[in-house]
Amino acid sequence: MSNALPNLEHYWMPFTGNRYFKKNPRMFKEASGMHYTTYDDKTVMDGVSGLWCCNAGHCHPKIVEAIQKQAETLDYATAFQLGHPTIFAMAEKLVDMAPKELTHAFFTNSGSEAVDTALKIALAYHRARGEGHRTRLIGREKGYHGVGFGGISVGGMSPNRKMFGAMLPGVDHLKHTHNLEHNAYSVGQPKWGDHLADQLTEILMLHDPSTVAAVIMEPIAGSAGVYLPPVGYLNRIREICDEHGILLILDEVITGFGRTGSNFGSDAFGVTPDIMTIAKGMTSGTVPMGGVLVKEEIYDTFMTGPEDAIEFFHGYTYSGHPLAAAAGLATLKVYEEEGLFENARKLAPVLEEEIHQIKGTKHVIDIRNFGLLGAVELNPIEGKPTARALSVFRECYDRGVLIRTTGDTIAMCPPFIATADDIRKVVHTVKESLEAIE
Ligand SMILES: Cc1ncc(COP(=O)(O)O)c(C=O)c1O
Repeated sequence: MSNALPNLEHYWMPFTGNRYFKKNPRMFKEASGMHYTTYDDKTVMDGVSGLWCCNAGHCHPKIVEAIQKQAETLDYATAFQLGHPTIFAMAEKLVDMAPKELTHAFFTNSGSEAVDTALKIALAYHRARGEGHRTRLIGREKGYHGVGFGGISVGGMSPNRKMFGAMLPGVDHLKHTHNLEHNAYSVGQPKWGDHLADQLTEILMLHDPSTVAAVIMEPIAGSAGVYLPPVGYLNRIREICDEHGILLILDEVITGFGRTGSNFGSDAFGVTPDIMTIAKGMTSGTVPMGGVLVKEEIYDTFMTGPEDAIEFFHGYTYSGHPLAAAAGLATLKVYEEEGLFENARKLAPVLEEEIHQIKGTKHVIDIRNFGLLGAVELNPIEGKPTARALSVFRECYDRGVLIRTTGDTIAMCPPFIATADDIRKVVHTVKESLEAIE
């Protein structure tokens, strides 16, 4: 493949400093297993699974083959009033893997669409049960639920919210659980902070619980910087929701599909949601796909009225797309046949041990880890938030390792095909890069 760069002018890149990128382009042209190849033929190890999604590594032959076959056989079929076999097989497989209470799958094309779909299901469910007054939604500070208007309304990252007006009405937010004084350098889940869940009761008392439809949160807040739930926190949130007939939506777009070492974060933390949102690892990042898993009772609530009437006025042209379904089904098989979640479980202690050795390196103020997720938080440069972490990103890239930054936090989440040495390489490169920057 040619090393020449294309015309960079006309593409408006998402979540990117466009002008900086176009002066300093970093482009990938190929990928295989743990590595990308850049347009100028350098090899870069993927320490972040693409964008928390390529859990089976890149261009896995079985997934590639399934996509190719599907493209030749059935390229597209609408999911409105019609079907194709692969998507039903995918739904069955997902339900098989999920906590047993979640029995039905709705398909979207991204995590953002999954979140907006989940919020709509929650509102419509209450209305169908005769509790249409339950309209409020509760999210959490530092939550990331994608970029749809629903997702940014319940999300808690101010840069993603501030430019876009008033967003959805009737949304409130819990405090986040990040606390350097009490939780810095926790190995795995922090022990301090379960009491923060009780703030949910305070919010409910303010609005009256009967006005609240759902609480949404990530089991581990990923995109904002890998913030772990304190021991007992999610269980307490679950209890409070149950006390008041409020649905709990767990957004497992990152924590799903083995990232925690279990099938889903809800398995790892022992908390079953009423609704779960998924995406990313669902197809190992190969074809866009998201989904919403719901409890039997929620599905059944919609299944009333004449049998041929539409029960839920919602869906996307590409819901259950054949290529995504084929990619998803092949991905879930690869996870199973190659024991990749087991590998993630085995590698988690390696990441834990290595990453906590970064403590004491200059600029570092916190280290967090769980499963194959790790984060190193840095002291920001005064007046230049995010600049220090970006320097580490560039330094790591030049040293041949891809990591991710958010704010002044560096995140690592390698594919599950990694070896222990790969994990060590990613973490050591972060350490060396920290030592090299100001
Ligand atoms: C927890 C969570 N929810 C939703 C999303 C949005 O997913 P997408 O970018 O596929 O729309 C993300 C993406 O990182 C996420 O981490």
